[in-house]
Amino acid sequence: MAGRRIAWCLTGAGHWLEESVTLALTLEGIDFFLSRAAEEVLRLYRLEERLQGRPLFRDRMASAPLSGRFGQGVYRALVIAPTTSNTVAKCVLGLSDSLVSTFFAQAGKSDVPVAVLPTDTVPYLLSRDPAGRSVAVRPRAIDLERVEQLASFDGVTVARRPGDLARWLEALP
Ligand SMILES: Cc1cc2nc3c(=O)[nH]c(=O)nc-3n(C[C@H](O)[C@H](O)[C@H](O)COP(=O)(O)O)c2cc1C
Repeated sequence: MAGRRIAWCLTGAGHWLEESVTLALTLEGIDFFLSRAAEEVLRLYRLEERLQGRPLFRDRMASAPLSGRFGQGVYRALVIAPTTSNTVAKCVLGLSDSLVSTFFAQAGKSDVPVAVLPTDTVPYLLSRDPAGRSVAVRPRAIDLERVEQLASFDGVTVARRPGDLARWLEALP
């Protein structure tokens, strides 16, 4: 039987970061996992305090032993939000050399549904730096192509906006 908890990975993206944290904190039964860059970026955006008191795990071990939880049925879903272009590329290539990319691989090998919220889904977007200044971002063709490739994976849903992710979570069995 599928587990009742959800594994929520944060990667080192400023875009959709506050929205992702806010959405995750509305839900029960979330275990948070941070990429190494996510730790830094959460601190830069002064959002780390919001996760205090929640189950939270950092990327400290090369073999990502907690990824074994997917095979054990602990998690009914994996969410990666926000998802950097770096993590999207690793996942598409089948790399599993970090906590988040290993979770993605193990969720796939254990038939656990995955939702990702990439930052780079359109050719032009306005983001915010940690000081609150507006920053124009023009994702490259390769960033956009990788997102489309990820969307073609079995069991993987690409959310284009936080609202899409919220609806996916509501529909989870
Ligand atoms: C303030 C800040 C904001 C960033 N925002 C993004 C972003 O929105 N999207 C992205 O792809 N990378 C962003 N990055 C770059 C990633 O953190 C960097 O590529 C990192 O290596 C990603 O590692 P990860 O995918 O393992 O988390 C940002 C970096 C900083 C310092």
